[in-house]
Amino acid sequence: NYHFYPKKDFVGKKILITAGPTREPIDPVRYISNRSSGKMGFAFAQAASLRGAQVRLIAGPTGLRTPYMVERIDVETTEEMFKSVIDNFEFCDILVMAAAVSDFKVDQRYTKKIKKKNNLELNLISNPDILKEVNLLKKNQIVIGFAAETENLSTNANKKLVEKKLDYIVANKIHETGFPFGSENNEVLILSSSGDYYELNSTKINIANFILDIIKEKI
Ligand code: CTP
Ligand code: CA
Repeated sequence: NYHFYPKKDFVGKKILITAGPTREPIDPVRYISNRSSGKMGFAFAQAASLRGAQVRLIAGPTGLRTPYMVERIDVETTEEMFKSVIDNFEFCDILVMAAAVSDFKVDQRYTKKIKKKNNLELNLISNPDILKEVNLLKKNQIVIGFAAETENLSTNANKKLVEKKLDYIVANKIHETGFPFGSENNEVLILSSSGDYYELNSTKINIANFILDIIKEKI
């Protein structure tokens, strides 16, 4: 059981992890976000730290406790997460992009609370793609992306693996019930750029440790 008897096999390795949702303010009291709990990314941070890695965790708003010996940077918006990832990318040997990054933001944030009315139109514009920018800075780092899909899991994940030039992608099948959001468990497909394929149904902690086991061979 990894959780209680960790091997110290990541000593000297630096891992940058993003976790949780990002949040895009509409006005001072409202925001756009998503159902990410942050548990997968936090589990990854905990697993890596227990195995001896130096871990920096860039966290969106989650309400989760910082795992033992993890250095945490809190962010709110995609733009803030973007800046933080770029600033910290050089530090790491491995980047784990578990965050559910908001693809859109409102183009003009209201400075005053919007009052109740019959109709409200918000104009949403696209946020930067963090992984796309990371690619331009990539040296020898291993980059792991995540994907949440409600349909065509392996096709969509494979597309992202290629387009985002990832070393690995961890694809979640999102059920109609909302599983695995907020759960301690997860059901994932892991695809690698070299064609490896794994299917896993386990706790988020075990999945994190499994991924650490497979990347260990590459570093
Ligand atoms: N990601 C990112 N920057 C964004 C959006 C996503 O870096 N603006 C990262 C996520 O952290 C994840 C991976 O890209 O590791 C895939 O995210 P996903 O939302 O599944 O992919 P998108 O390219 O945004 O495609 P779509 O939401 O349309 O499925
Ligand atoms: Ca997206």
